[in-house]
Amino acid sequence: MKTEPVEADLLTQIDLDRLPQHIAVIMDGNGRWAKRRRLPRIAGHRAGISAVRQAVEACARLGVPYLTLYAFSVENWKRPHTEVKLLMNLLREYLKKEIGELNRQNIRLGVIGRIQELPKPVLQDLQNALDQTRQNAGLRLTLALNYGARAELVDAVRELLANSSRNGAVTVDEATLSAHLYTHDLPDPDLLIRTSGELRLSNFLLWQVAYAELWVTETLWPDFTQKDLFQAIIDYQKRERRYGGLGLG
Ligand code: FPP
Repeated sequence: MKTEPVEADLLTQIDLDRLPQHIAVIMDGNGRWAKRRRLPRIAGHRAGISAVRQAVEACARLGVPYLTLYAFSVENWKRPHTEVKLLMNLLREYLKKEIGELNRQNIRLGVIGRIQELPKPVLQDLQNALDQTRQNAGLRLTLALNYGARAELVDAVRELLANSSRNGAVTVDEATLSAHLYTHDLPDPDLLIRTSGELRLSNFLLWQVAYAELWVTETLWPDFTQKDLFQAIIDYQKRERRYGGLGLG
């Protein structure tokens, strides 16, 4: 990826020793991007994949260890069947095409969500991409697929109760609940980015973003470039994170 002068200037403003360890993104606005161009919605999703590539590559190059992208929610099944089908096809295309590039950049793919409910062919391509990138030790790229934060909490509690009926005891505290979430092996996000200007969490990582810094841009997801990502990180680094305490004064 080429770094243009504006991006290079932004890059110099980033303190590489204080990068957010985990960036989570609600990629919104694909439909509006397409509508503005009088294109079918799926053209927006296709353009969204180019933005995914840029964000992934920028995080990998900077050295951000974790990036999680909200690609398909449990609510997205309510969309017209044709859009859901095309989105699934796009996802399969991405998973098949991208393995070589992910390996080249040392990126390990992960997934969160009720993936067993995804169509079989999608699940197979997903499993294949997970297997083929498992050995990579660089950026951990997690796709949220058929993901909903409330469903995740319900699944975690069900798992806790199932374990307790086997061994007769149940511990309920923050650490135990966290350990049963899909994200049990990821740190909580430090920075949550949402595109297209909506001020909502949309059932994304509700537990995990408790102390995340939020960054919302009017930019529609297909127009999101590494410049926007750098800007988000610069703004994040200017904030004082207090975690409910009084901070450094
Ligand atoms: C929200 O835009 C976006 C989605 C529901 C899907 C996101 C999918 C992609 C970016 C492409 C596939 C991703 C991967 C990782 C291969 P919207 O359709 O809700 O936009 P709107 O609010 O403007 O209608």
